[in-house]
Amino acid sequence: MTTSCDRRRFLATLGKAGALLASGSWLDAIGYAQTSRGPARAFIQHPRVRADFDRRVLGSFLEHLGRAIYTGVYQPGSSLADSKGFRTDVAREIKELGVPIVRYPGGNFVSGYNWLDGVGPKSQRPTVLDRAWNSLETNQFGTNDFVDWCRLVGAEPLLGMNFGTGTAEMAVAYVEYCNVDKGTKWSELRRSHGYQQPHDVRYWCLGNEMDGPWQIGQLQARDYGRKARDTARQMRVIDRGLQLIACGSSSTGMPQYLVWDREVLEECYDQVDGISLHAYYGNTQPLTGNNTSRYLAMNLDMDRQIREIGAVCDYVQGLRRSNKRLWLSFDEWNVWYRARSGNATDGRRQAAPKLLEEVYNLEDALLVGGFVNTLLRNSERVRVACLAQLVNVIAPLVTNDSGTLRQSTYYPYAWALRYARGHVLDLRVESDTYPITAAGLQPEFARNDQVPYVDLVATLDGQNGQASLLMLNRDLDAERELVLEWRDVTPTRVLTCDTLTGSDLKAFNTFEQPKRVVPQRLEPPAPGARMTFKLPPRSYTVAQLATTG
Ligand code: AHR
Repeated sequence: MTTSCDRRRFLATLGKAGALLASGSWLDAIGYAQTSRGPARAFIQHPRVRADFDRRVLGSFLEHLGRAIYTGVYQPGSSLADSKGFRTDVAREIKELGVPIVRYPGGNFVSGYNWLDGVGPKSQRPTVLDRAWNSLETNQFGTNDFVDWCRLVGAEPLLGMNFGTGTAEMAVAYVEYCNVDKGTKWSELRRSHGYQQPHDVRYWCLGNEMDGPWQIGQLQARDYGRKARDTARQMRVIDRGLQLIACGSSSTGMPQYLVWDREVLEECYDQVDGISLHAYYGNTQPLTGNNTSRYLAMNLDMDRQIREIGAVCDYVQGLRRSNKRLWLSFDEWNVWYRARSGNATDGRRQAAPKLLEEVYNLEDALLVGGFVNTLLRNSERVRVACLAQLVNVIAPLVTNDSGTLRQSTYYPYAWALRYARGHVLDLRVESDTYPITAAGLQPEFARNDQVPYVDLVATLDGQNGQASLLMLNRDLDAERELVLEWRDVTPTRVLTCDTLTGSDLKAFNTFEQPKRVVPQRLEPPAPGARMTFKLPPRSYTVAQLATTG
């Protein structure tokens, strides 16, 4: 946390540096100040820690949708499958990534899902019509298979409940099936399915996007809030240690955005631990005017959404005179705008149809880097977040019959998973800015603002003294210098310095050309108390440093 003394000292430093503080700008609250020209500068002090960084903020999501499960993670009969039918190439990738938590089974799918269809002997599981995506669901992969797969890749399961067609009765039975040891109807059913030990699932979503007219069983806010409260109360009788996430607004564009969240929480605040946020972004005429500079500023829209929903939570906390502060679960976020309508979203009653297979380019990857920065710098409030999704469906990994492709967006996500460790440091960043305007854009993302060219987060691992920097240069034309001033800890060695950049912002990887958008080594500055990184135009860069202090 920044003390007022730290802040006075910081402002004095800015004054000397001739910086113009963007007075009144909300960007100040997330650590940014505007300078007129010259290099960006950041002050890094060890005690100025934002939060303990919970790796769950770098989670992901697997839905029964398109080829995410079937031919994505599960393909019995494939030469790449293990004895359980899990794709070994995909499992290896995900294990190597170190994805900490995976949300399952939906998404929209969950609102029509009967979890009982997906457990027990596979030969007896019914094939059903999934009404969310108009697809055939064979149920050959279900909850126990998912938990097995999570154990294989080292991820924690985050299970979603059916609040669409589902009842509180069956939701509570699901918790009993998963988490009760033995001696009850549903725990014994699990044991009869070959799982003697309980799955001990801690994190649960109480439905999915229940405010959406597209959602099976859409509810009004207060009706949903009451159902969530009742179900949550019963779930806690079954297992006291659960972490329960209420459905928040499904996007900032919803007509009831923030009102939905307030009304839901007024009904169920005492029974839940977190509330969900969802957001999908795109470089489209209505959202950005097809303007990449505006597009690369969209992670600041995510920062704003986090602040706004956090404010609603705090408001209801005050109303309820509660000691409990809710955390946020940003459990669906990504770029998604190309494969978003028509055949890309209609399964036409096929099993494992090709749906939502978004192809990601360089500019998408840079923005995903920005989202990672936003989530990390808000990790004091956001405990869980899920890149939506993990394989084939709006995903960093794509499969075909012979292997796996890393899309451009794989790299910023992989860097955060690999290098961000320990504490997120509370930085003050001065940066030259560029203007964006709201004129002609859809209101949920449209703002008149000044956007810093450089976006930076830093983590420090107290165990081994390693610091990591994740740096976005939004300048499309020019290299930007970033001067880092270290206090209390001093870098002694640069362990890694890689960048993702290129001349063609629209370049993407394919199975034929898998290396069109891949990281390259960047010449790092000499380690020391003052380091100047030269960030290439339109780039996202990671550096890992050994420090002493
Ligand atoms: O992730 C794809 C879909 O987007 C999810 O099913 C739904 O929750 C959201 O609208």
